[in-house]
Amino acid sequence: GFECFRDECSCHPVRYFAILSMQRSGSGWFETLLNNHTNISSNGEIFSVKDRRANVSTIFETLDKVYNLDWLSSASKNECTSAVGFKWMLNQGLMKHHEEIVEYFKTRGVSAIFLFRKNLLRRMISVLANSYDRDAKLLNGTHKSHTHSAKEAEILAGYKPMINTTLLITELKQIQEMTSKALTYFNTTRHILVYYEDVVKNLTRLDDVQEFLKVPKRKLKSRQVKIHGGTLSQHVQNWEEIQTTLKGTSFENFLLQEHRK
Ligand SMILES: *[C@@H]1O[C@H](CO)[C@@H](O)[C@H](O)[C@H]1NC(C)=O
Ligand SMILES: *[C@@H]1O[C@H](CO)[C@@H](O)[C@H](O)[C@H]1NC(C)=O
Ligand SMILES: *[C@@H]1O[C@H](CO)[C@@H](O)[C@H](O)[C@H]1NC(C)=O
Ligand SMILES: *[C@@H]1O[C@H](CO)[C@@H](O)[C@H](O)[C@H]1NC(C)=O
Ligand SMILES: *[C@@H]1O[C@H](CO)[C@@H](O)[C@H](O)[C@H]1NC(C)=O
Ligand SMILES: *[C@@H]1O[C@H](CO)[C@@H](O)[C@H](O)[C@H]1NC(C)=O
Ligand SMILES: *[C@@H]1O[C@H](CO)[C@@H](O)[C@H](O)[C@H]1NC(C)=O
Repeated sequence: GFECFRDECSCHPVRYFAILSMQRSGSGWFETLLNNHTNISSNGEIFSVKDRRANVSTIFETLDKVYNLDWLSSASKNECTSAVGFKWMLNQGLMKHHEEIVEYFKTRGVSAIFLFRKNLLRRMISVLANSYDRDAKLLNGTHKSHTHSAKEAEILAGYKPMINTTLLITELKQIQEMTSKALTYFNTTRHILVYYEDVVKNLTRLDDVQEFLKVPKRKLKSRQVKIHGGTLSQHVQNWEEIQTTLKGTSFENFLLQEHRK
């Protein structure tokens, strides 16, 4: 997957990657950390635009543009980029066209960084709150999915969603199945599996990612502030009911209060 065609760099090989993740799994934060590296450009959620994932041809065209370094975004570095990629959500054509995409990854030498969240209940709360804010626009009429200030995080976390427990277990299972399917589909691609919680707990987990991308190791920083920190029970309306529903199931550990930091 190495090509050398740029005159601005003295022939550093470029590594191609894609962060494969799901909404509200910390991938925005993770990406700001990667982009803090002078040699990494991660170009955001480019397949959030539907036209680009309309079919396999448009997907390949988009991928070519990114990996030919023709994609301009705020992440583009004017210095030597030695790893270039973007983040791709499982529900953005990735699972649907997995066979062709795996072939593309192999031919082009694209490595996959799976970024998943262990606590799918916390993820669900984040999904509901973010979806609510899309209409409610709690921050002075502006919808924000991520924030850089503790004050804003507090305002956003002020909304406590109610989780419909009738569907809770079914939905958690669906998410779990989707992630394990993704791992199976892409298991022949060069990949690394990273859990959001592990990075939150210890930023040195990023050393493994930097090694995987073959870039020099740096201490990486992000200015983003977590919206739903602290204990879980304070972030939902019907905590009691959720507890009753999950106790004794394989999802019981999602009820653990502490935010592992
Ligand atoms: C990385 O983050 C630090 C601290 O916020 C900042 O000073 C530095 O300019 C950032 N580097 C890049 C390449 O974004
Ligand atoms: C990383 O970027 C620096 C400039 O910030 C450059 O001097 C160096 O050659 C790059 N390293 C690699 C491995 O591309
Ligand atoms: C793929 O989608 C694009 C954009 O919607 C369309 O123009 C093109 O004809 C489609 N190609 C195929 C092979 O379906
Ligand atoms: C909202 O607007 C008020 C008044 O203009 C300002 O004081 C406050 O900082 C703003 N809050 C946020 C979260 O932007
Ligand atoms: C929860 O979901 C079920 C099944 O879709 C629905 O019948 C029920 O009305 C929902 N409950 C609430 C409180 O929204
Ligand atoms: C990938 O997954 C398939 C289906 O589960 C399995 O048969 C195969 O051995 C796996 N390959 C690798 C390299 O793990
Ligand atoms: C983080 O992980 C590194 C490497 O595994 C370890 O040396 C270090 O002690 C850990 N730090 C904390 C705060 O757990």
